Amino acid sequence: MLDFPNERLELAKGWVREAGAFLRSHLDETPNVATKSRYDDLVTNFDGQVQEELVSNILAHFPGDKILAEENGKSEADFDLTTENFWVIDPIDGTTNFIVQKADFAVMLAYYQAGEPQFGMILDVLADRLFWNDAEQAYGDDTPLSVLKPELETSLLALNSYMYKSNANHLQELAAKSLGVRNFGSAGISYVKILEGRILGYVSNLYPWDYAPGTILLSKIGFGTWTITGEKPALQGRQKVFSGPLHLKEEVLAILGQSEL
Ligand code: IPD
Ligand code: CA
Ligand code: CA
Repeated sequence: MLDFPNERLELAKGWVREAGAFLRSHLDETPNVATKSRYDDLVTNFDGQVQEELVSNILAHFPGDKILAEENGKSEADFDLTTENFWVIDPIDGTTNFIVQKADFAVMLAYYQAGEPQFGMILDVLADRLFWNDAEQAYGDDTPLSVLKPELETSLLALNSYMYKSNANHLQELAAKSLGVRNFGSAGISYVKILEGRILGYVSNLYPWDYAPGTILLSKIGFGTWTITGEKPALQGRQKVFSGPLHLKEEVLAILGQSEL
């Protein structure tokens, strides 16, 4: 087995912290905003700048590494996901929050070595709190995070608001088994809430850069991420995924996968 990529981990922590400091220092400016697929799918000049900086840092140190990054406009990797060393980048997760609220957004990346997940990183930019993992465990800044085993009946859920509103995949039935639903407008911040034990799980329709960092981090606290049909997400295209505690996988997926009568 290959060694854990400690050099990349330490460099990446610095790059992500720098990206966060850059965004905080420009918070008073009005960003240039453009739309992508539809009126509420937004991107700013800062998304591009942060991505460019992260990519150039990575390639300056590791020119052979591959990159799957949101603002390249392609959700399919043009390299072999099972053999390459690659990074997955979301320069600003929660861009709408960044524009409208100037709060609750994250810089995220994930690293895979020879196709195997190694570390995820989520920086809650305003709090300057960095979630990361080594081979053994996940941390919030320097504090190790505990393995958690929450139950639905005593927990809250983060659910994609469109899916919840339309009761896609019986989400309202799932919600009825919990204490309620919260929505944070950022996949990264939703994963942070799970890591901190504030939320039991998250269901949304996500791209690889939205779920890859959180998925790796959560694997260190007894959680997994599955498609609605129970498979490992493909790191390609957009998929509906559930992230939650391992012991509730079957129960939750049984609710989400009920056939319409
Ligand atoms: C989005 C946010 C949002 C989620 C969307 C994502 P972006 O990421 O995480 O909460 O519901 O599916 O695309 O576009 O702000 O990086
Ligand atoms: Ca983004
Ligand atoms: Ca995102």
